[in-house]
Amino acid sequence: MKIKNVVIIGSGTMGSGIAAHLCNANIPVTLLDLKTEISEKARERIYISRPPLLIDKTKINNIKIGNIEENFDVVKNADWIVEAVVERIDIKHDIYKKIFKFRKQGAIVSSNTSSIPIRVLSEKLTSNEKKDFCITHFFNPVRYMGLLEIVKNEDNDLDKINSLKSFCEKELGKGAIICNDTPGFLGNRIGVYAMQVAMTEAFRMNLSIEEADAVFGRPMGIPKTGVFGLYDLIGIDLMADVLKSFIKELPENDPFQIVAKEIPLVKKLVETGYTGRKGKGGFYRINKIDNKKILEAINLNTHNYSKSKKIDLGIETVNLNNLIERKDKFGDYAWSVISKIILYSSSLVPNITIRFNDIDEAMRLGFNWSMGPFEMLKSIGVKNFFNRIKSFENNKFLENLSKTKNENFYGERQLYTDIETLGKIKPKAIKIDKNKSADIYRFKNFNIVEFTTKACALDYDSMDALKNATDKPLIIINESMQFSAGVNLTYTMNFADKGDFKSIEKFIKYFQETCKHLKYSKFPVVSAPSGLALGGGEEVAIQSNFVVSHTNIVMGLVETLVGLVPAGGGCKEVLWRWSQTEEAKNDPEFAPLKVFNIIGYATTATSPIEAVPLKFLRKEDKQIMNRNSLLEEAKKIIKENENFIPPKECTFKLSGKVLKEKMILILEKLYNDKIILDHGVEVGKELATVLSGGDTNIEKTLSEDDLYKLELESFMRLIQTKKTQERIKHTLATGKPLIN
Ligand code: NAI
Repeated sequence: MKIKNVVIIGSGTMGSGIAAHLCNANIPVTLLDLKTEISEKARERIYISRPPLLIDKTKINNIKIGNIEENFDVVKNADWIVEAVVERIDIKHDIYKKIFKFRKQGAIVSSNTSSIPIRVLSEKLTSNEKKDFCITHFFNPVRYMGLLEIVKNEDNDLDKINSLKSFCEKELGKGAIICNDTPGFLGNRIGVYAMQVAMTEAFRMNLSIEEADAVFGRPMGIPKTGVFGLYDLIGIDLMADVLKSFIKELPENDPFQIVAKEIPLVKKLVETGYTGRKGKGGFYRINKIDNKKILEAINLNTHNYSKSKKIDLGIETVNLNNLIERKDKFGDYAWSVISKIILYSSSLVPNITIRFNDIDEAMRLGFNWSMGPFEMLKSIGVKNFFNRIKSFENNKFLENLSKTKNENFYGERQLYTDIETLGKIKPKAIKIDKNKSADIYRFKNFNIVEFTTKACALDYDSMDALKNATDKPLIIINESMQFSAGVNLTYTMNFADKGDFKSIEKFIKYFQETCKHLKYSKFPVVSAPSGLALGGGEEVAIQSNFVVSHTNIVMGLVETLVGLVPAGGGCKEVLWRWSQTEEAKNDPEFAPLKVFNIIGYATTATSPIEAVPLKFLRKEDKQIMNRNSLLEEAKKIIKENENFIPPKECTFKLSGKVLKEKMILILEKLYNDKIILDHGVEVGKELATVLSGGDTNIEKTLSEDDLYKLELESFMRLIQTKKTQERIKHTLATGKPLIN
């Protein structure tokens, strides 16, 4: 079965997201709704979506649109028809009747339902129709969420289901997990339960919403939105509907029922229009006081809002044992929530899936948890868990485990896929070294470096790991969300606060040395970025010999946003790439002026398609839809380069002062037009110094080291200014740049 043409019915949030993603995979797709205007609006929404649903916006017209009255004929040519209309069974049944009348024999029909069981969806289908009908449950936003749950019915043609799974894995890049026909399948059953536990325990244990979010967040390997923040993001009203559906579908004695009961505060918020970020606010809200925007948090007891408090638990990396051992309310809350999630998830095996492993992977792919409930159990330790837990009635999984107390109960990771992923390889590889910022693994004939800090921010230790791992071909790759959000600014500011600029200089020099070493060492270095590759992260990637990039990357040299210039070779490398163009051969100022613009504006690319024209990536760098395949692709490159010869060092001819003056004229115009302010001009002048080659002229040849030196000097001058330090501190505190 080949899927060459897809029709989607229903162009709301999910239908449009699925259409956009099929377009990303270059599959012809038509989006139908009640009226053409509705699908047209959907296409407009896709075009302006942020983060963008399309990898390449210029392909928007590859998504055809229409309505179900006049254009239903398109169904005749479709190999796959996805139903994504409102969650109403009568409407869905009507649509299926029509689809099966029109579809070509053998075409797959699937529903994106999140809560209606397949036995109910398919109750009016003939057994021949049932053969080709299943649930394909995508997560929102479709381009970015890795999970796809596929639910079969008993009549399915298994070959067809498997080829659909394989299509979704290879072409759409999804982690496709087949699961049983039970309410909420895997992801939502556990994910929503976990949210409800985190919420009800916060009420019971008297934690503020900021305190609960500070625990049920990064310290547990869960995104920092926490529970109340996530509620606001999803929509408090939508969550209320989801809970109603669980209450209806699940048996009365299911522990979910206890945590799903309506909470008076939640009811009140919905009734008063506090439905979350899309409404007037939610558990958190933005209030304007004296024309200043203030983030406020609700008090769970009084229901009044007051200025949100930042809770710092002093935790940098996930360590569940340290967390639950804490002798304070945070430790108690963490244990209470984690133990309930483990108890509930394990009680559902084998009912929701025979493979507990799939539950963990669903939580990673669908909720961006860094480990699922069973990995949490493994991380706490089996004996430790049983010493702490009081009872586990009606839980076959835990009963069995309590007998063996086998600490190695887990087995392999990612059983849902045949791809040889990083997650699968890590337990088999030898961990040859580790420091507080990175792990180095040896697997067969190559090394792997995985950054382990928050957002994979880079410091001296990250560089040390890279440098020490070049005695074999090296792959730089990681499982966490980001490749690297850049240099660790907290680490840098700790030195700056003490006036210890020598240590900053030492670090930046080492950063440069390491990146140069990556580029010219004896063995090939392959970077495999996904998520953010910003600032220092981008500098590591572009100074690797090869790049295999996930299609969901955000790349750029964004240092100017914090009042700095790229100093790990970023200016130098992008300048080199631009100086190799035809235009640059005829005009020596073309490349530096181009790069002045790109770096000056902190331009970012939100996909490899956008990164290539900026020269953050080269045309020959690989672009991969399935994040799981990054390692296999990187391995292929190493194999193809057994006789690798490092590149020749590059040289530069730049016109120095003459060029710098031109750049300053640009800055002056921007200043006069009020596009940049005083400090922006100062940062721009430093960038101009680097990109014009400093004290040089067009006859002289500059080496890479000369450029590294210029980057370092400019960086050091800027980091010592009050304004830059203020901008860095502002960014660290708010996550947003300060414009000045
Ligand atoms: P939505 O309300 O955003 O969009 C539904 C669309 O269906 C609307 O554009 C509506 O005009 C159209 N529609 C209604 N009746 C129709 C008919 N007879 N023929 C053609 N189009 C019709 O809904 P959303 O959120 O996109 O959900 C769609 C499905 O996906 C539902 O089954 C929902 O449970 C499921 N789902 C939703 C998720 C979410 O985060 N929103 C996540 C995963 C699944």
